[in-house]
Amino acid sequence: MKKKLLILSALFLFVVVTLFSQGSSIDETFWTKLNPVFSGSQYVMDRETCISCHSLETTAYEHTKHSRIFKLNPKTKLEKVDCEACHGPRSAHIENPDKRFAITDDQYSLVCEQCHKGGDRMYWSNSLHKSANVNCVTCHSVMEKKSSTALLSKKTELELCSTCHTDVTSKAMRMSSHPIKEGKMECSSCHNVHGAPGTGSLTKATSNETCYTCHQEKRGPFIWEHAPVREDCKTCHDPHGSNNKSMLVTQNASLCVSCHQYGGHINQYRYNRVSTPYGNGCVNCHTTIHGSNHPSGVKFTR
Ligand code: HEC
Ligand code: HEC
Ligand code: HEC
Ligand code: HEC
Ligand code: HEC
Ligand code: HEC
Ligand code: HEC
Ligand code: HEC
Ligand code: HEC
Ligand code: HEC
Repeated sequence: MKKKLLILSALFLFVVVTLFSQGSSIDETFWTKLNPVFSGSQYVMDRETCISCHSLETTAYEHTKHSRIFKLNPKTKLEKVDCEACHGPRSAHIENPDKRFAITDDQYSLVCEQCHKGGDRMYWSNSLHKSANVNCVTCHSVMEKKSSTALLSKKTELELCSTCHTDVTSKAMRMSSHPIKEGKMECSSCHNVHGAPGTGSLTKATSNETCYTCHQEKRGPFIWEHAPVREDCKTCHDPHGSNNKSMLVTQNASLCVSCHQYGGHINQYRYNRVSTPYGNGCVNCHTTIHGSNHPSGVKFTR
């Protein structure tokens, strides 16, 4: 009787242990695939050992979210592995500190993806950044908290993007722009830099959908639609900024005339004389240029 109970409970324990370890197991071959030098090296799982030689590199690290969570409140087996979750099994390194286990920056992306796959990073594998060899660790500095959020490798997002996209970021300094330099908006208000299904890595499928998230009143529907507005806001606006009023791609009269050459009054001086960069030009009278809901708003004058 007693023996049977023992066998049963042993069996129970076995089932529990197998279930548990399956749910949160670590792929032992992951690191050997990245670099064969990891073969045979075991997890040490003790940050104090690492710190005993690496206090210099880890003082800043201790102020990051990773450090706090992995040390104080690890939820998965991989988080419990601590330093070695990102640096791989290191017993052989401790026995012989001169032994190097370097991996490349794009291999680091695979390491990060162990915990950060899906969600906002769903389209990472097809992103232009990935294919241009701009990696997780190009934009993120995980060993040191340099930015107020998201562990960026520069102090601000604008500064980070400026390292490669000066043509775009310089527009943010122009006369008319989204309040990015003021810190009220980010490039990531419109872009998912980790990749997105549509063109331009936008947060929404099209640029108009992206604009509507904040400029809902432009969505309509209107009784009188202005065709180019429905089609693409970028026809008239440069969302990155411009030296014309309201981020227009050109002064508003020349803009309108690029499509509207005909019409009794268009080329008459008194109609477009107010068309300086700071004047209102055509929209002095065509005030509802994005569309009108007024029964007689067919010419967008009300
Ligand atoms: C006995 C001292 C010692 C211990 C313990 C130690 N390291 Fe190192 N580690 C070194 C030395 C020495 C270097 C080479 C430093 C250099 O080149 O500047 C190094 C280099 C590194 C590097 C950069 C090169 C590489 O191989 O990737 C990483 C990452 C690293 N160690 C992580 C760890 C981790 C994680 C632990 C704990 C599991 C650890 N180390 C424990 C001495 C140690
Ligand atoms: C979230 C992933 C991650 C964790 C966790 C992590 N590191 Fe790192 N570590 C990196 C990356 C990525 C680099 C290389 C790029 C860099 O310096 O940002 C690095 C670099 C290093 C280096 C080399 C610095 C140099 O100058 O070459 C050492 C040493 C190191 N880490 C030790 C540790 C120790 C010790 C811990 C735990 C206390 C730890 N790391 C935790 C990702 C991590
Ligand atoms: C073992 C799992 C694990 C690995 C590996 C890992 N992370 Fe994380 N990371 C986390 C957890 C957990 C959080 C906290 C998430 C939260 O706050 O909800 C986090 C948070 C972050 C944040 C947000 C930090 C903040 O201050 O808000 C960034 C950025 C980040 N990770 C980037 C990386 C990068 C880059 C790598 C690879 C070098 C990496 N992570 C590797 C688990 C991991
Ligand atoms: C081109 C630069 C860039 C690259 C490459 C990049 N990131 Fe980011 N990441 C950012 C920026 C900027 C933010 C903050 C804005 C945002 O959330 O989109 C961020 C935010 C994050 C966050 C925090 C999100 C949150 O909700 O707090 C995590 C986690 C993260 N990135 C992980 C990764 C991982 C993993 C990779 C590689 C697969 C990666 N990033 C590649 C720039 C980058
Ligand atoms: C290390 C350089 C680097 C950094 C930093 C960087 N990018 Fe890029 N980015 C590139 C490269 C390279 C491409 C590929 C296309 C190209 O050559 O312009 C690209 C492409 C893009 C695209 C176009 C995507 C498409 O589908 O057309 C957007 C949008 C973008 N980056 C936004 C950002 C934002 C926002 C930041 C800051 C959070 C940033 N990038 C940081 C190098 C960088
Ligand atoms: C108000 C929304 C918005 C903001 C904010 C924004 N962008 Fe864009 N961005 C767009 C749109 C829309 C496109 C065109 C996407 C397409 O191809 O359809 C674009 C395109 C791009 C491209 C592709 C090439 C090009 O020059 O058109 C890059 C690179 C880029 N943005 C970088 C940035 C950077 C860096 C920032 C921050 C300084 C930023 N964007 C802020 C909306 C925005
Ligand atoms: C994340 C929110 C957000 C998104 C998305 C957004 N905008 Fe804006 N937009 C703003 C804010 C905030 C202002 C500044 C309003 C103010 O200063 O009163 C603004 C102002 C503008 C202005 C007026 C600028 C001026 O100088 O008067 C135009 C034009 C504009 N946005 C066009 C666009 C276009 C086109 C898109 C899509 C490509 C877009 N916006 C997407 C938030 C957004
Ligand atoms: C046919 C050209 C054209 C198109 C297309 C266009 N706009 Fe405009 N937009 C203008 C003009 C002209 C002004 C300046 C109006 C003024 O000075 O009164 C303006 C002003 C704005 C402003 C600031 C003033 C206001 O009305 O709030 C915002 C925001 C704006 N547009 C958003 C958008 C969005 C979002 C789209 C796409 C859905 C879009 N625009 C498409 C011509 C256009
Ligand atoms: C990219 C081309 C384009 C631009 C730029 C543009 N429009 Fe239009 N506009 C159109 C089209 C297409 C129609 C619809 C024409 C039709 O139904 O015959 C239209 C219709 C109109 C109408 C109604 C015309 C009618 O016959 O009922 C007015 C008024 C108008 N636009 C004014 C403007 C003004 C003012 C501007 C500058 C702020 C402007 N448009 C910029 C393409 C454009
Ligand atoms: C002083 C006010 C005023 C100004 C300035 C003005 N318009 Fe008009 N526009 C009108 C009125 C009113 C109508 C309607 C006329 C009608 O129904 O006969 C109209 C009609 C139009 C039409 C439709 C033409 C048609 O045959 O029905 C177009 C296109 C147009 N305007 C474009 C422009 C452009 C482009 C500019 C700037 C160069 C401009 N307007 C400046 C008042 C103005």
